[in-house]
Amino acid sequence: MTVTIVGAQLGDEGKGGIVDLYGEPADIVARYQGGDNAGHTVVHDDVEYKLSLVPSGVVRGKTGVLGNGCVVNPRTLFEEIDALQERGLDPDVRVARRAHIIFPYHRRLDGIEEEAKSEDDQEVGTTGRGIGPTYEDKAGRRGVRAGDLANPDILKERLEYAVPQKRALAEDVFGVEAGEAFDIEALYEEYREYGNRLEREGMLVNAGDFIASALDDGKKVVFEGAQGTIIDIDHGNYPYVTSSNPTAGGAATGTGISPGVVGGGEVIGIVKAYLSRVGSGPMPTELAGVEGDTPGYEGEAGEQEEELAEFIREEGGEYGTVTGRPRRVGYLDMPILRHATRASGFTGLAVNHVDTLAGLEELKICHSYTLDGDELQTVPATTEQWANCEPNYRRFDGWENIDWEAAASEGYDALPENARIYLDYVSDELDTPVYAVGVGPSREETIVVEHPFE
Ligand code: IMP
Repeated sequence: MTVTIVGAQLGDEGKGGIVDLYGEPADIVARYQGGDNAGHTVVHDDVEYKLSLVPSGVVRGKTGVLGNGCVVNPRTLFEEIDALQERGLDPDVRVARRAHIIFPYHRRLDGIEEEAKSEDDQEVGTTGRGIGPTYEDKAGRRGVRAGDLANPDILKERLEYAVPQKRALAEDVFGVEAGEAFDIEALYEEYREYGNRLEREGMLVNAGDFIASALDDGKKVVFEGAQGTIIDIDHGNYPYVTSSNPTAGGAATGTGISPGVVGGGEVIGIVKAYLSRVGSGPMPTELAGVEGDTPGYEGEAGEQEEELAEFIREEGGEYGTVTGRPRRVGYLDMPILRHATRASGFTGLAVNHVDTLAGLEELKICHSYTLDGDELQTVPATTEQWANCEPNYRRFDGWENIDWEAAASEGYDALPENARIYLDYVSDELDTPVYAVGVGPSREETIVVEHPFE
C-alpha cells in the first residue's frame, strides 16, 4: 500500500514531520520530484536532522528512493549521506537511473537568470539550487541522468554537447563570465567519480521496478512530496513556481508507479494552520510583508498587522530551512486548499502549527475571494488575476496555550474547543477528514486521528 504526502499550500507545511510519523511502519520512503531545494527537519532521539535531498525516512532506517522525477545534485547527496554516517547512521539511499543530474552550471545559471530578472523586479526568488535549469535541460533532451554518470563515454558525450551551449548562454546572452562551473574536463572528472560511487555502493535502481516489486512483496511505501501545490509548475502560480509537480500526479510520473496505485492508496494533504510563502508572487491573505519578496512592499503595513506577522514568524519559526530567509506569512486561505484538494484528491488532512496560533484573541480564514465583483471559491488560473483577488474572511475566536504534549497523547478532543471549531470548518469545507494535528515540532507532539497504514 502507498501513502502519498503532498504540500497543500506553498511548501513548508511540515511535511517532514508527517512523513516521519506516518512512515514509521513503512519500508520505503520515495521522493518523486524536486531536488535539494527542499528542507526537511526531522527530530529523532532529540537530535535534529536537516535534510534537503535525502528522503527524511532514512533517519529511521527506511530505504530512501530518489525517483526519476527528482533532480539530483550528487555533491549534496553524498554530503548528506556522509553526514548521516558520521552521526552513526547507515543510510540506505537509492537513486533512479532516470533521475536528472544537477551540475554546477545549472546552479550558476539559476543565479544568473534571477539576477537578470531582478532588474525588472521579475525574479522568482528561487533557492538558487539549479532546479529550474536542470528541468529545462531534461525537457530540452540535453540532460544527464544518474544512470549516465556510471557510463564515462556517455557522460563525456553529453557534457560535450550541453556545456558549450550553457557557456554561450552565460557569456553571449547574459554577458557574464562563465567560470569554472562550465569546465567540461573538471566536471567530467568529478562527476565520473560520483558515478563510480553510485555504482560501487549499489545505489542506482530502476525506481519503478524497485518500488513495484517491494509493493508486490506487501511492503509499505510512502511517496514524499516536496514543496507545495501553489508552487507546482502546472497547478501553481506560474511563473512563481518550482519546476516540478509536487501534486499527487507527480508521485506516479516521478516514480514509475501507476496513477491507479497512487490514487488507490491514501493521499494526505499537509496544511499549515496559517500560510507562509518563500520568494515572490501574490499572496492574497498576506499579513504585512517581507521586503524584497512581497511585490511592491516597502514596509508600509499597519502596526497591528506587522505585530501579528512577527508573532506568527517567531512562534512558528518561519525562516527558510535552506536559505534562512524570513518567510512571508498570512491567514489560512480556503480557495488554495480547495484547489489543492481537487488537484491531488486528498483522502485525509494533516494540519500543522495549531499551537503556533495559540494566544491570539481572534483569527480569520479566507473563505472565498472576490474578483471583479464575482465570488470565487478557488484559485484563478492566472497569477495576475490571483493578485487582484480580495479575500472574504470568516472570523474565529482564538484559543489558549495548553500542555500540547499532553493533548497529543489524549487525542483530538483534548484540543481547545475553538481550535476544533477552526479545524472542523476546514475539514467540512474540503469534505476531507482530519487525520492528524501538529501541535509541536516532534513526533510526540502530533495528535493522530487516523493512521493511514493501520
Ligand atoms: P526553485 O525550486 O529553487 O526553482 O524555486 C522556485 C520557487 O519555489 C521559489 O519561490 C522558491 O522559494 C520556492 N521553493 C522551492 N523549494 C521550496 C520549499 O521547499 N519550500 C518553500 N518554497 C520553496
